[in-house]
Amino acid sequence: MQFNDRTIVITGGTSGIGQCLARTLRDRRNEVIVLGRAGERLDRMAEEGFATVPCDLGDPSSIENAAHQLAQRWSRVDVLFNNAGVQYNYDLTSEVLPVGRIHREIDIDLSGQILFTQLMLPLLSRSDCAMIVNTTSGLGAYPKADGLVYSAAKAGMRSFTVGLRNVLRSTPIRVLELIPPVTDTGMTAGRDEQKMDPQAFVDITLPQLERERKIATTGQLRFFLLLTRSIPGLARRILEGK
Ligand SMILES: NC(=O)c1ccc[n+]([C@@H]2O[C@H](COP(=O)([O-])OP(=O)(O)OC[C@H]3O[C@@H](n4cnc5c(N)ncnc54)[C@H](OP(=O)(O)O)[C@@H]3O)[C@@H](O)[C@H]2O)c1
Repeated sequence: MQFNDRTIVITGGTSGIGQCLARTLRDRRNEVIVLGRAGERLDRMAEEGFATVPCDLGDPSSIENAAHQLAQRWSRVDVLFNNAGVQYNYDLTSEVLPVGRIHREIDIDLSGQILFTQLMLPLLSRSDCAMIVNTTSGLGAYPKADGLVYSAAKAGMRSFTVGLRNVLRSTPIRVLELIPPVTDTGMTAGRDEQKMDPQAFVDITLPQLERERKIATTGQLRFFLLLTRSIPGLARRILEGK
């Protein structure tokens, strides 16, 4: 699929990787609809000229409202980027996490995305060539000690991606996975490690998505995925910085 003259929905399009995706795809003559929580960041994207729809992925009624608004305003969607995400960091051995916090992280990173995807299927089905792109994480392939709930949610999204691809196999809807390495966005602010520029990540991976590679990512992250399967102990040491 070429990303030109498409109608594209991006969750988490208000900052970081999603914002770079939104601007890059708009520059390539696509109609880009940006989703994020209602607030200043979404307003700024509207001021930039993007169509915006408020959506809190941690709140099922907000997700249903967003899907309803999209169906009212657009007759079809060609591409859905399930890109929004949050990562909370903590040490599970020194504190008992409040259950509401666990639920919220899983809701935003997994359950909300599954619900939103289901609600988007009718609009995607009206495209003769549709695509769903789920942003997951290397931590969905091997968990990181200080982000176990995030890792579990991303592992769930990886599984959902493969399962949905199988379920939709006989339809024109392709289901792909986008895996960023550590990237310089709000999510990694304050982390003292080498980070990729989000625009560089988008520039590397968009052509892969156009070629419909099942996993769009960097060479280094592809190597990490291989390690998680073949030498998991080494993957763990890489994540521990050893
Ligand atoms: N940065 C990395 O190193 C890295 C690595 C691997 C994977 N990823 C994944 O890449 C994706 C994009 O992350 P990023 O690095 O670009 O982070 P980011 O700059 O923090 O952006 C996160 C986006 O998610 C949205 N979001 C947060 N809470 C939300 C909620 N409750 N409902 C709806 N939207 C919500 C935010 O929008 P609002 O605040 O406007 O609602 C924002 O646009 C995420 O799925 C993340 O897990 C990132």
